[in-house]
Amino acid sequence: MKYKSIKDAMDKGKGEVSIRGWVYRERGSNKIKFIVLRDSTNIIQCVLKKDYFKKSWSEIDGIQIETSMKITGIIKKDKRAPSGYEVVVKKYVVVGSSDSFPITKGQSAEFLLDNRHLWLRSRKMTAVMKIRSTYSQAREEFFKKEGFWRFDTPVLQPTQSEGGSTVFEVKYYKQKTYLAQTWQLYGEAAIFALEKVYNSGPTFRAEKSKTSRHLSEFWMVETEVAWWRLKDITEFAKKELKYCIKKVAEKCPEEFKLLGRDPKELIAMTKKSWPTIKYRKALKMLKEKAGMNVKFGKDLRTIEEETIAKMYDTPVVVTHYPQEIMAFYKPRDPEFHDEALCFDMLCPEVGLEIVGGSERSLDIKEMSENLNRGGENPKDYKFYFDLRKYGGVPHSGYGVGLERVIQWICKLDNIKDAIGFPRTMLRWKP
Ligand code: 4AD
Ligand code: MG
Repeated sequence: MKYKSIKDAMDKGKGEVSIRGWVYRERGSNKIKFIVLRDSTNIIQCVLKKDYFKKSWSEIDGIQIETSMKITGIIKKDKRAPSGYEVVVKKYVVVGSSDSFPITKGQSAEFLLDNRHLWLRSRKMTAVMKIRSTYSQAREEFFKKEGFWRFDTPVLQPTQSEGGSTVFEVKYYKQKTYLAQTWQLYGEAAIFALEKVYNSGPTFRAEKSKTSRHLSEFWMVETEVAWWRLKDITEFAKKELKYCIKKVAEKCPEEFKLLGRDPKELIAMTKKSWPTIKYRKALKMLKEKAGMNVKFGKDLRTIEEETIAKMYDTPVVVTHYPQEIMAFYKPRDPEFHDEALCFDMLCPEVGLEIVGGSERSLDIKEMSENLNRGGENPKDYKFYFDLRKYGGVPHSGYGVGLERVIQWICKLDNIKDAIGFPRTMLRWKP
């Protein structure tokens, strides 16, 4: 028996087909049973008639949601059916019966998270996962086209890099290590061999905030390039996002529509130019247009990021944040000493920070001071400082928060829906 996917069966559109999948919906009377079967490609209505299945009617009558089945029958167009086609069943096999499925309409977000292993099968989660996968495939294509090398690095690392307050400590034999807060420090080591490197991998932050935009484990897509400066890297980050978003919008229009996002709108956005402004200008705009007073030296809070982002209909890059509050490796602007050569990219609508990056400091003394101030021992960063001692060159990089991008383009209220099995301060199961 040659099984077709539901999509291929519908493309065939007539004659006999064999399909397999799971029961998405069922209803019936004592004469007829309607089963909507689901596979990874689509759903389709299947009809079983009692006259035809006299002997097995009690089994058919008892079929519950999520039962796995193989079905052979005649497919035809039917306007009333949920996906426009119907299969009149001639043969069926119940492969795995299903208990009464715990997920029904109108359940709370927490219940769905407790049952994530089952909720993954929902149309919503399936659409999000397809978009996420397609996005990642497009990204691999992009970096290949741009002549980058993929460089894999350890998840267990001897130091923090983005601030000691959010590291997860891991017992490592008789020592201790930390879960990677970023790939960057190792990416920097690799540019001396490969010049243009990238990666995508799990990244960990012990975020103590319970927000709709923070995960404790997320996937960061990072890039590091020798010789490039701030301007090069901000323009390249825009190019990467435009490429990936356009590709995924072209390849997953139905999935986006199901999530309430018009894919054409995304494609149009990738064709616009995305502005870059300085942090100081952002403060001025906040004051003049929104009456918000933020002093130079403060990081932008969520509400301020949102306010800036809402002034644009594309992502906006904000550069030159105050050096003092930045990670230890972000260099000072040689002209304006209180500013760092760094950037964030904020997405429109929700105003999430989707990208963070910078030039990398070459000044060992200053970096040591920054580390000391943060309670770190500069001696632990010898390997990192060596990269400045042996043929250091200007270089820059950035990291894209994959779930943040997915949250934004899929219009998800919570970042937890942008990943299969989310990890947050309060959730590490299932
Ligand atoms: O801005 P961040 O902290 O930058 C870095 O880690 C740099 N080392 C990256 C680099 O230059 N190679 O993180 C980068 C991005 C953020 O802009 C955000 O999109 C995402 O990672 N991110 C998170 N996403 C979900 N949950 C969290 N807790 C996140 N923290 C950061
Ligand atoms: Mg950041």
